[in-house]
Amino acid sequence: MVQAGAPASASDRADAARRLARVLALRGPMLARAAVGHLRPDTRVDAEWRERYERARRDLDANDAVFRPTKQWRLISSMFRMMLRGFGLRDFKSTFGRFLAAYEPENRRYFEALHHVYLSTLERRDTWGLLETLEEPDLGQNDTVVVRGRRFSMDLLQSVDELYRLVEVMGWSREDPVVVCEIGAGYGRLAHVVLSAMPNARYFVFDLPESLLLAQYYLTSLHPDSKALLYPESAEAGADGERRWADARIAFGLPHQLRSLVPGSVDAVVNIYSFMEMAPAQVATYFDLVERLDPKALFIKQHKHEVNLLENSLLTSAGYPVRPTWRLAHEGTSALYENVFEAIYRVRS
Ligand SMILES: C[S@@+](CC[C@H](N)C(=O)[O-])C[C@H]1O[C@@H](n2cnc3c(N)ncnc32)[C@H](O)[C@@H]1O
Repeated sequence: MVQAGAPASASDRADAARRLARVLALRGPMLARAAVGHLRPDTRVDAEWRERYERARRDLDANDAVFRPTKQWRLISSMFRMMLRGFGLRDFKSTFGRFLAAYEPENRRYFEALHHVYLSTLERRDTWGLLETLEEPDLGQNDTVVVRGRRFSMDLLQSVDELYRLVEVMGWSREDPVVVCEIGAGYGRLAHVVLSAMPNARYFVFDLPESLLLAQYYLTSLHPDSKALLYPESAEAGADGERRWADARIAFGLPHQLRSLVPGSVDAVVNIYSFMEMAPAQVATYFDLVERLDPKALFIKQHKHEVNLLENSLLTSAGYPVRPTWRLAHEGTSALYENVFEAIYRVRS
């Protein structure tokens, strides 16, 4: 008879032990409840089902030994018996079913699966091979998953998705000296991907002081050779102010500094998950500024329907003050979230 399988290596065994420990930790509370339920004098399983089950156990034991459960399945079967007695059959998908099929919603395996599925979807659009070269940086200690030997985060995958959306719609080439201006960039996840992927790209970030601090720290740490214009130097008045912005590869400013950018100097203005959290008057002001700045494109990605409780306002995908002269070049639902829309407008005619 040909034997299937080979002896496991020490690291395979350590991996498997870690997985087992994780499963037991996750299912510990359920097993504890089952153990308590097991102490009840009667069982929750009908006599008929119990009889069929006991008969099957006896018959399996009496037959060819090769079909008997392995040590792992003997252990699982004894937990099953405990759960049967304690919980009965009715809600089996959330008890014994956890060892058979679907995981509990909070199981990390789903987090891992999400990365795998998103990555596989993006690979079809990976014309620049970014998914084979970029990895989630250590800096900031994001939650990551290793897929095909590379470390990914949802932030990295979303950023690659967003950059490719711009590339596909705008027809950018890798070497293009594009200027991207992001309003509300968070810690700079998309900026990092753009700066890494496009050697001649320049990136301007406008944000509130807290996020601006993070983005300055993050992007200057990851791109130490890129000339950076930080805040407050970016706001210092002087005849050479415009030149300092033009010389920088990465520049950082407070929102009001958007007013000092030269019209026509930006290729794309980007706003992701940020306008949707603003008051309508702020959004209107930013759209006025975009009109004045006259970029080639505006890329927005927001919740389709966002209630802003504290501002008592509602912003829907149709509610953004898009100018009639702006041409819709792309509109769709995000690959990741059903409740998120993305749109790219050609602003400059
Ligand atoms: C939910 S975060 C999204 C960050 C980033 N775009 C991302 O997707 O990772 C919202 C961002 O909008 C910024 N923001 C909030 N109000 C703002 C305002 N009035 N002007 C500019 N940025 C603002 C926040 O500081 C934060 O960086």
